[in-house]
Amino acid sequence: MGWYADDIERIIVSEEQIKERTKELAEQVAADYADRDGVLLVGVLKGAVMFMADFARAFPLPTELEFMAVSSYGQAATSSGVVRILKDLDRDIADKHVIVCEDIVDSGLTLSWLLRYLASRGAASIEVVAFLRKPDAVKVDVPVKYVGFDIPNEFVVGYGLDYAERYRELPFVGVLKPEVYSR
Ligand code: XMP
Ligand code: MG
Repeated sequence: MGWYADDIERIIVSEEQIKERTKELAEQVAADYADRDGVLLVGVLKGAVMFMADFARAFPLPTELEFMAVSSYGQAATSSGVVRILKDLDRDIADKHVIVCEDIVDSGLTLSWLLRYLASRGAASIEVVAFLRKPDAVKVDVPVKYVGFDIPNEFVVGYGLDYAERYRELPFVGVLKPEVYSR
């Protein structure tokens, strides 16, 4: 491990597991889109950056990349479902086959808002590929067709996910030691 060895309590998803599963997912999704002209991946900043980069490179069909940044109003720890656009799409997505790349689906409120927004912009089709999914996600009615890993209900960092903007660059997903939060 690198500089972060002292901060990590345990690894939830290893670098090897990520590599293997991303390839599987990319092939699974591509099989479903084989008859289209290509897809438009919409990455949700910043968390989805690592996953989107690896997924796009493993995806064997023509791909365009777009990014959005959104933030939930209210408390940072829990998602309220009221969303503010920090960075909008750079161009029209009308008639595109959109695949939303998400880092993690927890309450699903952010995603539910995003799907309505993309539909209102006239996408030809919209599906979601989420790198991680937490147990609460099953309680809400958000159609997440493709999921990398179902993980326990713990706060995780790494591979795009942060704690106070740190740990995004870790090549795996892990849980922080409790003392990190009281530093
Ligand atoms: P909802 O609840 O709307 O929120 O599905 C999803 C967003 O919440 C953040 N999130 C996390 N971020 N570690 C993180 O670094 C976690 O364990 C975690 N759980 C939820 C994340 O921004 C995600 O897009
Ligand atoms: Mg965050």
